[in-house]
Amino acid sequence: MIGLSTTIAGVKFPGCFMNAAGALCVTRDELLALGRSKAGAIVTKSMTMEPRHGNPEPRYYGFPGGSINSMGLPNLGYRAYADLIPELKRCGKPVIASVAGLCEDDFPTIAEAINAAQPDLIEVNLSCPNIPGKPQIGYDAEASERLLKRVRRVITVPMGVKLPPYFDPAHHDAMGKVIGRCDVDFLNLINSVGNGLVVDPEREAVVIKPKGGFGGLGGTLIKPVALANVRAFYKIFQGRIPIIGTGGIVDGVDAFEHFLCGASAVQIGTVLVEEGLEVFGRLETELAALLEKKGYRAIEDCRGKLKEL
Ligand code: DOR
Repeated sequence: MIGLSTTIAGVKFPGCFMNAAGALCVTRDELLALGRSKAGAIVTKSMTMEPRHGNPEPRYYGFPGGSINSMGLPNLGYRAYADLIPELKRCGKPVIASVAGLCEDDFPTIAEAINAAQPDLIEVNLSCPNIPGKPQIGYDAEASERLLKRVRRVITVPMGVKLPPYFDPAHHDAMGKVIGRCDVDFLNLINSVGNGLVVDPEREAVVIKPKGGFGGLGGTLIKPVALANVRAFYKIFQGRIPIIGTGGIVDGVDAFEHFLCGASAVQIGTVLVEEGLEVFGRLETELAALLEKKGYRAIEDCRGKLKEL
C-alpha cells in the first residue's frame, strides 16, 4: 500500500491533497463538504475582521491554461470562523485557518481570536493580490517581519505563512532571512501570481470586472513559478521548515513534481474550482499509481530528491 499521509509541523494529515484557501471554503456548507470529501485537511477562506462580499462579479475566470481571479476576500468574518472551528474539527482531519486582514493591526486581532478556537494550524496570508490600493505584504520584507513577529506572540498552534511568488534569488534570500527570524513552523508556496491580465480577443475585453481586469493567476501556467519557489525555500532551510506546495497541480504528476522540489503536502485551487470535490479521489489515485510505478512507498521517500545536472 502506498502511503499518502503526511506530517506538517507535528500535525498528521490523512492525505497530502487539500484545498487552497479560497477554493470552495467560504461558507459552513462548503467547509463541511470538504470535511466529508477525500481532502486531507479543511482550509478556510482567508478571513478578515468583518464579513465581506468581495469585489464585483465576474471575478473568477477559468481558461485552458489556468485561471485569473480578483475575488477581493469574500468571507464570513473571523468571528464566524472561530465559531465554526470546533464543528470542523469533528470531521476528523486537520483544520487550517487562513488569516488575512485589510491592515497590519487586523492580523494580530484575528490571529488571537482564531487561535483561541484552536484550529490545528494557522496560515497567515501575506499575499492577497486583489484588494485595490493594498499591496501584497509579502513584497515588503520589513512589513512582513513586523507583522509576523506580532502574530507569532499570540499564536500557540503551528504557524505558517502563505507567500507570494518571488522571481529572483535575491528576493528568496531576503524573505528567507525574515522567515528565519520569525519562528515560522511551515510555509505555503505560492499564492496566485499577481497581477496578470487575461484578454478576450473576440470581445476585445478583459474577462473579470475588478481592477480593470487585473488579477491573480493560478493553474497550469503558474506551475514552474510555484516549483521554483518551493525549491528555493526548501534549499534555503535545507528541509527544516515544512512546505505546502500550491500552484499548477492538475494531476498526480504535478503533485509528484512539488514533492521532488521539497513539498510535504500540496494544495489545489483552480482544479478544485473547475472539477469539484471529486478531484481529490482522482489525484490520490494518480499519485499512488505514479509512486508505485517508481518504487516509492511514501511521500517522505521522494521529498526534496530532485536531481540537479
Ligand atoms: O488569489 C487570491 N485571491 N489570493 C488571495 O490571497 C485572496 C484571493 C481573493 O479573495 O481575492
